[in-house]
Amino acid sequence: MQARCDGYADSDIAREPRERTVGSVGFVGSAGGKGGGRVLGAASATAHANIALIKYWGKADERLIIPRTSSLSLTLDGLETHTSVEFVEPVPESESETGLESEPAGTHALQGTMRDTLRDTLTIDGRVYSGGPLARVSRFLDIVRERSGIHAPARVISRNTVPFGAGLASSASAFAALAAAAARAAGLDLSDRDLSRLARRGSGSACRSVFGGLVQWHAGHDDLTSYADPVATDMKLAIIVITISAGEKPLSSRLAMRRTVTTSPLYPAWTRASERDLHEALDAISRRDLRRLGEISEANAMGMHATMISARPPVIYWLPQSIAALHAVEEVRADGLPAWSTMDAGPNVKVLTDSEHAERVAGALHERLVGCEIQVHHAGTGVRCTTRNKGDR
Ligand code: PMV
Repeated sequence: MQARCDGYADSDIAREPRERTVGSVGFVGSAGGKGGGRVLGAASATAHANIALIKYWGKADERLIIPRTSSLSLTLDGLETHTSVEFVEPVPESESETGLESEPAGTHALQGTMRDTLRDTLTIDGRVYSGGPLARVSRFLDIVRERSGIHAPARVISRNTVPFGAGLASSASAFAALAAAAARAAGLDLSDRDLSRLARRGSGSACRSVFGGLVQWHAGHDDLTSYADPVATDMKLAIIVITISAGEKPLSSRLAMRRTVTTSPLYPAWTRASERDLHEALDAISRRDLRRLGEISEANAMGMHATMISARPPVIYWLPQSIAALHAVEEVRADGLPAWSTMDAGPNVKVLTDSEHAERVAGALHERLVGCEIQVHHAGTGVRCTTRNKGDR
């Protein structure tokens, strides 16, 4: 079977008003008006995206981002976000070259955040963002400001290799990098666990990108008990990403999750199954049983999509090419290669395999899926700060 990858353009998926998220954002511009003041703290960090094998889908607490179920993921090489954060001493209005009136369009949408955060600036991949994405970053930075006592606006600049908002886990790498850079720039000395708790507040899946390789996010029941931890293994896993569309998805995962939790009659059954799936997946990992891990991962992802499709109205991220890709994975497996599908909040299909077979699986998929971008990703490392604050050891 052959299929073409043309993305959303030809689909008749019902579109909802878009809500831009931070995703693979980079940040440019200046804090505290053009020019800004003295830099109080600065740091940069790099984080990798992760793909869940046992999914996070549904929040128990929307403000703190406490999930309803625990999840398990693989952090990937290649798909990364690099973010730098500078906290800059605010310049009094009269001395600032740029007053509020001349802020970019959309800035006034930032109601409810601290006044200083009105002057945060965000540049993602060379584009200056205001409105929703900047508000989301400012709200996150408010948590860092509150904990550190630094009440200054920030200049955030981010570059990434992950397409934004396409269900390729861009918000995971974006908020893991932002959390690490902002915490370091603000002088917070956080353990990895506490950094994962902080990253979680930006985007749930970001807490897993704090760590490399296989990672478990313990759902917990409050801010303290909901964090990620690495899962020790010597399995050499790989994920092949079949890009059906790198375009922004029509409905954010936040809204899709909420609709699923509140309207899908299948959702309670999936959460129960997911707890068992996690248990069995961890057991398969401890026995180095790739086949079992693949079967459980595929079933867990399909179950999650069943909850979406049964939401009212339905949430359908799949495109015709997604289904063609799912069949292609099945065919490749029938030919004897280790390959199991998983999908997130978007039309793209990811394939779990191991490093040894990854290139062969990718080649077999290429033959069947004409025009799709197919990339192999091996396990990647956790977040790391790449520049340090003055005075750091
Ligand atoms: O962290 P969010 O809000 O981007 O949600 C991620 C949800 C899924 O990608 C669909 C599943 C997961 O566990 O990553």
